[in-house]
Amino acid sequence: MTHGAPTNIPTHGPDDLVVRGAHVLDPASGLDGVMDVRVSGGRVAEVGEGLRGTRSLDADGLHLFPGFTDVHAHWRTPGREDEETVETGSAAAAAGGFTGVVMMPNTDPVIDRPVVVSGLVRRVEGESRVRAYVSAALHEGLKGERLTEMRLMREAGAFCVSDDGLGTQSAGVLRNAMLYAKDAGMPVILHCEDHTLATGVVHEGVAAALAGLPGSPGSAEDVATATALVLAAETGARVHVTHVSTALSAALVGFFKGNVPGADVTADTTPHHLTLTDELVRTLEGMYRVNPPLRPEGDRLGVGGALRDGILDFVATDHAPHASEEKDLPLEEAAPGFLGHETAFSALYTELVLGGHLSLERLVGAMASAPGAWVGDGAGRIAEGAPADLALVDLSEEWTVRGEGLLSRSGNSPYIGRSLKGRIVGTMVGGELVQDRTGARFGSRA
Ligand code: DOR
Repeated sequence: MTHGAPTNIPTHGPDDLVVRGAHVLDPASGLDGVMDVRVSGGRVAEVGEGLRGTRSLDADGLHLFPGFTDVHAHWRTPGREDEETVETGSAAAAAGGFTGVVMMPNTDPVIDRPVVVSGLVRRVEGESRVRAYVSAALHEGLKGERLTEMRLMREAGAFCVSDDGLGTQSAGVLRNAMLYAKDAGMPVILHCEDHTLATGVVHEGVAAALAGLPGSPGSAEDVATATALVLAAETGARVHVTHVSTALSAALVGFFKGNVPGADVTADTTPHHLTLTDELVRTLEGMYRVNPPLRPEGDRLGVGGALRDGILDFVATDHAPHASEEKDLPLEEAAPGFLGHETAFSALYTELVLGGHLSLERLVGAMASAPGAWVGDGAGRIAEGAPADLALVDLSEEWTVRGEGLLSRSGNSPYIGRSLKGRIVGTMVGGELVQDRTGARFGSRA
C-alpha cells in the first residue's frame, strides 16, 4: 500500500458478487465488451463470461468502468463543515462514480501540521464512503514562506502536498519546496497563479469588458505554469499541475513532456474548463466566479485538444462547495469555485463524447485510469487482484441537474437546470456499493 493511502475501506466485501453482462470498458486493462466481473474479498476475482457467485447484479444495458479518481476536491473539513463534511463530500463523490478523492488543505485550520493531518485521517476512517487521500500544505498557512514538516506529515498519513487556492509567488521558495517534497517522497500538486498579474475576478477579455468586470489575463496562469515546469525539470520532483485552463499552459506542459528529460510532470484540467466559457460572466452571477477563471472558447478548445491527445493526463473537478451567503452574490463579491463531483462524468459525456470531441475510452482513461495510476495502489483498473472499485453507468439515462437532488451539503453547481445524458447507477468501493441506484437488479444466485 502506498504511504498515505487511505485505510478506511474494508478489504473484505460482503461476499462473492457477479456483476453480470455489463459493457466493461477499461483502457488500462484493454477490456471493451460485454462480460461478467466477479468480486470477492473486496477485490476483482475474475473477469470473463458465464461467471458464478453467491449473488449477482444484473447489469444488462449498463457500462462498467473502473471507479473514477478525483485528485482535486475541497471537502472543507476541518472548519467549514457547514459547506461540506467528509460524509457529504464522499457521498457526492460516490454519486459521481468517484472511488478515490484527494482532499485539499485550504481548510481552517490549514492542514499544515502532523496533528491536523492525523485528525483528518481519523475523520476519514470514520466517515468517508470512498478512498480519501489527504493533501497537506506545502507551506505553513499556505503563505508561500516557511516550508511545512513534510516528512512528519507523511508519517501522520498525508499523501501529497499542495498550497491549492494560492500560487507560490517566489520561484526560489517554490524550488526549495519541490526539493523538500522530493526528499519526503511526496508528489506536489501546484495551483499555478501569479498574483501580481491575477488582479481581477474573471478572465480579462471581451466578455469581462462587456460586463464591466475586472479581469485577470491568461498570463497570470501561464507565467506561473512556465516557472513550475522549469523548476520541476531541474529538481526532478514529482509535480502535478492542476486545473490547467489556458491553451498556452497546456502547450507548455506538452513542450516539457516532449522535450525536457527529467521532468516528472503530469497535469489535469477540469470539467468546467472543458465545457463552459467566460461568456457566462455576462450574467454577472456569482455562480460563475471560479479560479482559474472560465476562459474564452479558444482556450476551452485548446485544453480539450490537449486532454484528447494525452498532453493533459486527466480530469480533476476542483469540487469547491460554498455556502449560499458566500456564493449567491454579485460576481465581484462571490467566493470562487463550484461543485464538481456529481456532474463531472455526465457533463463531459454529454458535451465532449456525444458532441464528437472525445472518445468514451479516452474519457474513462482521463477519469479513471490515469488519475488512478497517479494515486497508485492498483486504482483505476479492472483486473484480477485489483481493488473492486467500480462505476456502473447508464449512458442512456437523461437527467436534469437540480440543487435539491445533489448530495453535497452545498448547492453551487453551474450545471443546475441543465439536462445531461449518462448517469451513475452504482459505485462500488472495496466490493461494497457506496452509491446504489441499482433498484431491482440484484439476485441471490448466479
Ligand atoms: O475556484 C476555486 N475555489 N479555486 C481554487 O483554487 C480554490 C477553490 C476553493 O477552495 O474554493
